[in-house]
Parts: sequence; structure tokens; C-alpha cells
Amino acid sequence: MRPAQFLAEYWQKKPLLIRGACPQILPLFDTRALFALASRDDVESRLVTAFRGNWRLTAGPFAALPTQKRAWTLLVQGVNLHDARADALMRCFSFLPATRLDDLMISYAADGGGVGPHFDSYDVFLLQASGSRRWRWSAQRDLALIEGAPLKLLKNFRPTHAAVLEPGDMLYLPPRYAHDGVAVGACTTCSIGFRAPTWDELAQEFLFGLAEREWFKGRYADAGRRATAAPAEIEARFVDAVADKFQRIRWTRRDIADFLGRHFSEPKPTVTYERPPAMSRERFVRRATKLGLALSLKTPMLYHGRRLFVAGESFVPPERNSKILKRFANERRIDPETSATLLDNANCATLLHQWWSAGWITFGRGAGDAVF
Ligand code: SIN
Ligand code: CO
Repeated sequence: MRPAQFLAEYWQKKPLLIRGACPQILPLFDTRALFALASRDDVESRLVTAFRGNWRLTAGPFAALPTQKRAWTLLVQGVNLHDARADALMRCFSFLPATRLDDLMISYAADGGGVGPHFDSYDVFLLQASGSRRWRWSAQRDLALIEGAPLKLLKNFRPTHAAVLEPGDMLYLPPRYAHDGVAVGACTTCSIGFRAPTWDELAQEFLFGLAEREWFKGRYADAGRRATAAPAEIEARFVDAVADKFQRIRWTRRDIADFLGRHFSEPKPTVTYERPPAMSRERFVRRATKLGLALSLKTPMLYHGRRLFVAGESFVPPERNSKILKRFANERRIDPETSATLLDNANCATLLHQWWSAGWITFGRGAGDAVF
């Protein structure tokens, strides 16, 4: 199915089961490698167990995992930040903007394992990578949760659809769709997860940024005031002074775009960059011209108009390089020849050298083509 048809008929509207969506899929990781990821403190992982019907949720990292043969699930978030194949798989969904695409999670479940009947706030594609999983889902309106449970579990799950997914099969679910997936034998599932900001989250962040601007420097002062006989009263002059300050707040559409760019290009909280050993700008240019450049798996890069946003920071590149840099953001790499064109401009070379020195970009092809 073409993205256009999927977006018109299903996206945010109704579930879609696609048999053989990715027939050539291989488990991206053997279980040992996935468990090794879950033992790292820069990787977000969770363990859900339902031993004898008792639900438990534990946060990683995990030095050891259950030895039981049944009823547990390990969820490893943001695998795309650590593995080029996982990144390439996630980028297959780049027919949707990067501001919506969140991460690739891989779950391993022992036979009978799952996270229980629940709903998610975001769209998700559930791609079966190895083994089988029985999914059940429902458009039910009743999304009441079991109170006091350690994880989000629906009180009254009434599935209307069921299917066993085999490797390569994929299920798309819109937000707030009740679902439950139970492993039939041990299995792994990739979840390509999306995000959609809440308005209050955006407003808080945006207004927080405005509060740090010039017009809020300084402090309320009341030199020369009179004594009060009503100390509990919030005085009109105090309200007026604050109202006067707040009325000065102004913003433009460009402020909003700039805020969105910084906000959505902010690396995930678990991300830290390792700075490469220092290299002169001249050597950097020579190597990049030879090898090309790629964004690190951890680096979001966005743009709006001429402004670029990389790892939460905003840049205005030289005008004549703007087109290529936008292509860099979309394709996440540039070949040696294109790199040479960019680096010809001294300002652009300084900019890219700065990004490389911060660990945001690397030499070479980066994530590479999809290999699953
Ligand atoms: C899983 O992969 O086990 C859970 C994914 C989900 O239900 O969203
Ligand atoms: Co879910």
C-alpha cells in the first residue's frame, strides 16, 4: 500500500493489519544482544512480569533477567539510537515527519508474555520480528483502567478483532485503541512509535522560553510606598505592575517556528555525545571531502525556512548552502562530492566542523541502507 492511501484511509482513523509488510525481516538482534542493551544505563528498558497473574513493572537497567519460561516481557526503548539497522527500519516510516516519529522499541516476550490489555496515547506500528504474537484489539470507548495496578491495564477489555502475527506481519493502531498482544512461544516485536505533543506541554515550554527574555529581567520594586493597614490584601498597584509586565509579551510566527525547531530537535534525555579527539578544520575538511558526512544516530536535524535545528540548537547557514543542508537533514547523510561543495564555503566548513567536534555528525555513510 502506498503511503498516500494509508494516510487517507487509516492514519489516526482505524487499525490496519498488513500481512507480509516486511517479509525479509530478520530479528534485528539476537536475544543476547537485546539483553545486553537492557543492561546499559544509557538505554531505557522495562520489565513486565505476570507470574501467577500478578502484574509487576520494573525499570532497567537489568544485570539479570527472569529465568522463568513464561509470562514476562522485556521492553527496550530507543533502539534506533544505538543500532544502525534499527534506525534504518524506523526511517522506513519517514513518509511522516520527524517531529511525529518517536522511536523504535523492541520487546522480547517469553511464551505467554505481554504487557496486558491497554491503550497508548500515540499511533504505533507493531511489526513482528521473530516468533508469533496473538494480538487482540477493539475500538471500545470504555478506557477505564484498573486502579492501583502497577501498569496501565484496562478494566473491561472487550476485543472485537484478533490475529496471530508472524514474522514480517505488521499491525497499525491509532491512538487510544484498546489492544493486547500475547506471545505464542518466545517472540520479538518492533514498535515504531509516534509522538504528538499535548497543547499544554507545548505552551509550557514555549512560555518558559519567553519568560527568559529581556522583558522579564529585574524584580518588582516599591520604593516610596505607603504603610498599609491591610497587610493581607493583594494591592491593586501590585496587580497593575504584574499586568503591565505581562502585557509586553509579544511573539511572532518565527519565534514559534524557532521554538518548535529547538524543541523537536532536542536529543532524547538518555543521549550523551562523545566528543571525538580534536582535529583541525583543515583536516576535517579533507576527511569529509573524502568520506562524506552523516548525522549520528542520536542527532535529530530539522529545518524551517532557512533556519536549521541540530541537537536542540538553531543555526542560519550561508544562503547558498541552504538547499544541500536541508537535503542533509532529510537524508541524514551527504556523499563525498556534496560534502566537498558544502565545505568549499568557509563559513559552512566552520559550522560543520563545529557539529563534528560536538559529536553530532560523523564521517562516512552513517546509518546506511535498510538491511533487514
Ligand atoms: C509489546 O511490544 O509487547 C507491547 C507493545 C504495545 O502494546 O504497544
Ligand atoms: Co500498546
